Amino acid sequence: MMILLTGGAGYIGLHTAAVLVEAGHEVVLFDNFSNSKPAGLKRLEAIIGRAVPCVEGDVRSRQDLDGLFDQYPIGAVVHFAGLKAVGESQAQPLRYYDNNVGGSLALLAAMQRAEVRRIVFSSSATIYGNADSNPIPETAALRPANVYGRSKLMVEEILRDLHAAAPGWSIALLRYFNPVGAHPGGLIGEDPNDIPNNLMPFVTQVAVGRRPELQVFGGDYPTPDGTGVRDYIHVMDLAEGHRAALDWALRDPRELLTANLGTGRGCSVLELVRAFEQVSGKAIPHRIVARRAGDVAACWSDPSLARERLGWTATRSLDDMCRDAWNWQRNNPQGFA
Ligand code: NAD
Ligand code: WQD
Repeated sequence: MMILLTGGAGYIGLHTAAVLVEAGHEVVLFDNFSNSKPAGLKRLEAIIGRAVPCVEGDVRSRQDLDGLFDQYPIGAVVHFAGLKAVGESQAQPLRYYDNNVGGSLALLAAMQRAEVRRIVFSSSATIYGNADSNPIPETAALRPANVYGRSKLMVEEILRDLHAAAPGWSIALLRYFNPVGAHPGGLIGEDPNDIPNNLMPFVTQVAVGRRPELQVFGGDYPTPDGTGVRDYIHVMDLAEGHRAALDWALRDPRELLTANLGTGRGCSVLELVRAFEQVSGKAIPHRIVARRAGDVAACWSDPSLARERLGWTATRSLDDMCRDAWNWQRNNPQGFA
C-alpha cells in the first residue's frame, strides 16, 4: 500500500516524504510544480538513498487523478497541494478558491471513486484569525481574515460534511502554526519564489547576503518586546506530526480528528532574530517599520490534543530551527536553483 502526497514536491511535502520513507512507508508524490522544482526530488532521493515515484499532474484534473489512483495502490492521502500566499490570495481570490477548494473537491471525488477513505489535510492556524486569547485550542472560534484562510476553512467544512454523510472516512485536519527550518542534512529546505513573505526565509536570505536588511513589521504590539509573537515549529517536527496522523488514519478510526501542530510556545520576531544571530554567527541588520496589514499581535497553539490523541509532541528548539534553516540556506544560497 502506498501513501499519496499531493503537493509532495513542496517544502513540507519533501520533509514529510523523507520522514515517512524512513518510517517504512511507500510514498508516491504528485505535484504540478507551480511552487516547487523537480530538483527537490533529486535531493529527497539523496536523503533516502533511492528513487521516489513522482507524478506530474494537477489536483484539479479528474484525468490526472484517476490515472494516478489506477497506477498506484494508494491506501491513504496526505493533501498538501495548495497555494499559500496570503497577499496573493487577496488579489486573486478565484485562483485561490479554484486551486485550494476546487482541487480538494476533485481529489475527494477521485478518492471516493478509488475507494480510498483516509486523508490527512494541511489546514492552517490562519483560520483562527485574531483569536481572543492564547494559547489557542482547536475549539477556538474560526474567523479567517483573508481569502487563503477562508479557502482552508472551506475545505475543513467540506471534510466535516463528508464525514457526517459517509462515516467510513478517517480524516485528520492538521492546523499548522509557523513551520520553519529544514532537514538537518541541509539538502532540502524552504525555497520561496521571489521575495519571501515569511520571516525565517527572509532572515536566512539576509544572512546569506541576498537581501540587505530585515524589516520588522511593527514594534508597538502589546507583546513583551513590542514585536509580533508566533509559534514557530520545526518542519521535521511537523513532518513527524504527519507520520503520527497517518498512523492514526491507517488504524481506520473512522473519525474526524482536528489537531493543532505547534510547540505551544510563543516567540517574538526579535527573539527569533537574536537566536538566529547566535546560532549562525551572522549579524542580521534589521529595522522596525510599520505593522503589516492583517497581522495579529500574538498567536500560539495549545498542542495538547495532538499529544493526547496522536502521541505526538514537538521536540526541537528554536535554536534547532535556526541552525537547520541556516545550514540549508548556507549550503544552497540560491535554493534549489
Ligand atoms: P509549498 O508551496 O512549498 O508546497 C505546496 C505544493 O503544492 C507545491 O509543490 C506546489 O507546486 C503544489 N501544488 C499547488 N497547487 C497544486 C495543484 N493544483 N496540483 C498539484 N500540485 C499543486 O507549500 P508548503 O509550505 O509545503 O505547504 C504545504 C501545505 O501546507 C499547503 O496546503 C499550505 O497551505 C499548508 N500550510 C503551510 C504553512 C506554511 O507556513 N508553510 C502553514 C500552514 C499550512
Ligand atoms: C511572522 C512574524 C510578521 C516577515 C503566515 C501566514 C499563515 C501561515 C504561516 C500558511 C509576524 C513578522 C515577517 C518580515 C517581519 N501560512 N515579519 N518581517 O504571518 O504568522 O503567518 O505564514 O498557512 O497563513 O499568514 O508568518 O512568517 O509571515 O510572520 O517582521 O519580513 O514575523 O509581522 O509577526 P505569519 P510570517
